[in-house]
Amino acid sequence: MESIKDLLKSTDLDRDVTVGGWVRTKRGNAYVNFVALNDGSTVNNIQLVFESGQFPEESLKDVTTGACIAVTGRLVASEGKGQTVEIKAAKLTVHGKSHPDEYPIQPKKHSLEFLRENAHLRVRTSTFSAVFRVRHSLTFAIHKYFNDRGFFNVHSPIITGSDAEGAGEMFRVSTLDAKKPPLKEDGTVDFSQDFFGKETNLTVSGQLQAELAALALSKVYTFGPTFRAENSNTSRHLAEFWMIEPEVAFCDIHGNMDLAEDFLQWVIAYVKEQCADDIAFLAQRLAEEEKGKPEAERSPLGLVEKLDFVINNRFERISYTEAVEILRNSQPNRKKKFQYPVDEWGIDLQSEHERFLVEKHFQRPVIITGYPAKIKAFYMKLNEDGNTVAAMDILFPGIGEIVGGSQREERYEVLLEKMKQFHIPEESMSWYLDTRKFGTVTHSGFGLGFERLMMFITGMTNVRDVIPFPRTPNNCEF
Ligand code: 4AD
Ligand code: MG
Repeated sequence: MESIKDLLKSTDLDRDVTVGGWVRTKRGNAYVNFVALNDGSTVNNIQLVFESGQFPEESLKDVTTGACIAVTGRLVASEGKGQTVEIKAAKLTVHGKSHPDEYPIQPKKHSLEFLRENAHLRVRTSTFSAVFRVRHSLTFAIHKYFNDRGFFNVHSPIITGSDAEGAGEMFRVSTLDAKKPPLKEDGTVDFSQDFFGKETNLTVSGQLQAELAALALSKVYTFGPTFRAENSNTSRHLAEFWMIEPEVAFCDIHGNMDLAEDFLQWVIAYVKEQCADDIAFLAQRLAEEEKGKPEAERSPLGLVEKLDFVINNRFERISYTEAVEILRNSQPNRKKKFQYPVDEWGIDLQSEHERFLVEKHFQRPVIITGYPAKIKAFYMKLNEDGNTVAAMDILFPGIGEIVGGSQREERYEVLLEKMKQFHIPEESMSWYLDTRKFGTVTHSGFGLGFERLMMFITGMTNVRDVIPFPRTPNNCEF
């Protein structure tokens, strides 16, 4: 069986071929029927022609939208508009009928909300098959980027006993009886009787383990699922998402920014080239969606132009202090348009602030460094001012934060002190502290939210539409 992608490109015509796939549409009359077939190899369908001499209408009754069929026939140049080749069917096999009255994916425009409720079938639409092909290509691009540059992929564990980000947003992993857990004398749950003999959770980040590996392999990255029980029902948050976390020894915050910028530009360019058809389709989808918006909310750039812009322009690099200054003096702040007013140094930047900086002020990706130590994680390197850390967040237009990273605190004493301040028990992290005792060195890394980058590349505006089966609060179907 040949893929529809290959057949549509084929110049070797007038030969017999076999294709298999799912029926998108059927139309015709008493003399001839045309079926658009898709096998997922490309966003484009191949046209099958059934002549009534060989295929009376009755014999095609099971060839309905959603049915799975295979056809053998002659690949010929198409006389019709819209395609260069088509198949004159000679033999038809219906593998799986699709009950036409019940099949939810009809050949018409469905809302993304409706398709989310039918996530088990939405990959059969042009939009979602394009998104998931891009997802594959982006995964491959990321591995290729690092592999070509001497990084090693490290598999960090999914079950952990530590909270790397210290945000306490973890999903517990336990085999204790939920109704009647064993209790300690003080009435709290006795996790020493649990499967691992301690309290364990799904990981929120593979960074700490990546650091251990980087202090031996020099350049590593993780690429795995991460889990966060943050109860934020937004269009950018998932409870289960994928993160890429490179970690590099002998690298400071500047090297870290250079790496992140080069990496993002390279993988976006790779996918744009490899998935040109899908990106063109998604660009058109986005353009149509934009038409429905009020003029002021429309993006001045199309999807392809947005990708090109990021590929070809340096990211703006500013300090947290500069960011706060810009925000404080900004029009929306002075006119009290921000939900969270920007008044003093030290505040955490909200997504409305990040989007103002990227979309209105700089109109390009922005890297912010030098955040106040107290609003960032314990492992970040304390700057000489004793007040800020060598953190970096990368903000993208339409997305907000896409990358969070830092230079790491490699000094044993300083790290220990920081852990005390953040109430992180020393015993539970002795393995992490060991790296600072035995052969420590300047090192840095960052975490890229895979789905956030997917949103940027595909132009999909809800993170639930770039992962096959999204996990969000009150939603774990499929
Ligand atoms: O900024 P975060 O929390 O950084 C870390 O976890 C570090 N350990 C990374 C490192 O230095 N190795 O998360 C990194 C990125 C964010 O910038 C965002 O893109 C994404 O992960 N992210 C989420 N994506 C989807 N849903 C969520 N709930 C996310 N939380 C974070
Ligand atoms: Mg962050």
